[in-house]
Amino acid sequence: MSKATVTAPANIAFIKYWGARDLDRAIPMNTSISMTLEHCVTQCTVETLSHGGEDEVWLAEPDGGFGTADPDFARRIREQLNRIRQWAGRKEPVRVATRNSFPTAGGLASSASGFAALTLAAVAAFGKKPSQRDLSLLARRSGSGSACRSIFGGFVEWAANTGNGSEEESYARQIADADHWDLRNVIAVVEIGPKTVSSIEGHRLATTSPYYGKRLELIPGRAEKVRKAIRERDLNALGPAIEEEAIDLHLITMSSHPPIFYWSPGSLAVLRAVRELRQEGLAAWATMDAGANVHVICDADSEDEVAERLEDLPAVGFVIRDGIGPGPEQDEEHLF
Ligand code: DP6
Repeated sequence: MSKATVTAPANIAFIKYWGARDLDRAIPMNTSISMTLEHCVTQCTVETLSHGGEDEVWLAEPDGGFGTADPDFARRIREQLNRIRQWAGRKEPVRVATRNSFPTAGGLASSASGFAALTLAAVAAFGKKPSQRDLSLLARRSGSGSACRSIFGGFVEWAANTGNGSEEESYARQIADADHWDLRNVIAVVEIGPKTVSSIEGHRLATTSPYYGKRLELIPGRAEKVRKAIRERDLNALGPAIEEEAIDLHLITMSSHPPIFYWSPGSLAVLRAVRELRQEGLAAWATMDAGANVHVICDADSEDEVAERLEDLPAVGFVIRDGIGPGPEQDEEHLF
């Protein structure tokens, strides 16, 4: 028997993965770029079992106990374990426990950190030491594509078309490490609980939007602005590009057939507050994933003021203060 525990971070996309060439294997239509977070993490322990039988999947609860995972999530975990077993040439079942440091679902990227942590812990429990590229590929194949970016710290790019465009070419890489630029992400939580429409369904519907083709045309230019702004640590160049990109993503969801509305009235209240903060001279810019919560990107000097102002909004339940993180790490202590 062997056991490994890994903590892997969530990430917030500046250029979003939305729409896939192959949804089952999460091969994206477009390049995406993200910042890896520091405090929003999933910890996952995987232990190989010497006896036969089924994989066991447990979720750590706030009181320290363990509960069962919901059937859909447990199924996705088992499917990913099967892929990893096949890749590793192993057969044993495993016991898995996982714990999030932040509220699951609701656009806080729990799947990305969850599947990155699961992939890294399972690979380590099987005694394998693959390259970062192979780890990113394995994480992407979980179907939660953004997990392939959570394998790295700092700023990360997952190119849509690298090399010959084959499945083995769709993986992420780091474009700048966490020390390059101390950006902060103040998350205004306006809704908690699972989102009503999964990202997978959103990807599937994306191409039904009449504006999807236009989005794909605009992305290379916008991605270049984001890369340059990261390189030059220029928040006033990064901000408008990421805010435009987030609105563009939601324009696609709202114009898909049938439409998906991830925004809530609280999201709009936060977006307005962020604009007001800027009018007062603070560099703060909003982005949103497939959920109602708003991620406000700012620098370290503005973080306190941004967090206090957002906390005061009646629509905001609470804020999570996060920042750029160094990426996954293997832990000495296990969840069980
Ligand atoms: C809007 O298919 O990776 O967050 O499985 O829910 O993590 P989950 O989603 P995934 O799509 C991510 C969609 C996005 C944009 C992004 O992170 O690139």
